[in-house]
Amino acid sequence: MKYIDIHTHILPGVDDGSGSMEETIMMLQAAQVQQIETIVATPHYIPGGSNLSVDALRERLEQVQAEAYKINSNMKLFLGNEIYYSDSIIEDLKAGKVLTIANSRYILVEFSPKDPEQHIYQAMSRLVRAGYIPILAHVERYRCFYKKEYLIHDLIEAGCYIQMNSRSLVGNLLDSETAYHRSLIKLGLVHLIASDCHDEKVRIPYMKKAAQIMTRKYDENLVNKILFSNPLKILGDKYI
Ligand SMILES: [Fe+2]
Repeated sequence: MKYIDIHTHILPGVDDGSGSMEETIMMLQAAQVQQIETIVATPHYIPGGSNLSVDALRERLEQVQAEAYKINSNMKLFLGNEIYYSDSIIEDLKAGKVLTIANSRYILVEFSPKDPEQHIYQAMSRLVRAGYIPILAHVERYRCFYKKEYLIHDLIEAGCYIQMNSRSLVGNLLDSETAYHRSLIKLGLVHLIASDCHDEKVRIPYMKKAAQIMTRKYDENLVNKILFSNPLKILGDKYI
């Protein structure tokens, strides 16, 4: 079982993720332990912020890929962005200033945790109409959706896909948030699990543990889609 991690902050010195190549190497080693063989680097893109150029990101990715090969000759990295939504984002995408996931139509999009559901719905619908396939990053973080599953369902109906952080599944079931996160998977409202790893100590991958929990608890077909076929389709720019 080799996993695909489509949301990581593994590139050194570009955002609030890895601070150095040494740290990136430790994160790659952690990914190897977690049986992750394919990694999409998704550095934050903040509109109007001091974002590194796409060329600089590609250069950094190549350096990290060279280190990854030393750990596992099958480990492959791709590039994307985690895009903080603003109305100017479509312009930036069209200008090639911001990246889709591995050159596909899929984009990883985040909002402020306090944004209201109307804003998220309208923004994501706008991205769909512009020809992109938006993936909502860490769905569990937005307070407006908490225990209002129908709102997540509306987003899916509008053409969006939903990502949850692997760490959110790994917790005590007596904790109501963990129970809620797992219920979203069971309801089929999550298409992708990814690590959103930022370092090698606290925000680490946790893919293996999350996969174990899912395999134990949920329908095999659903688990296979979330862990394998959905991320593969994204990398191949195919419809989920
Ligand atoms: Fe992230």
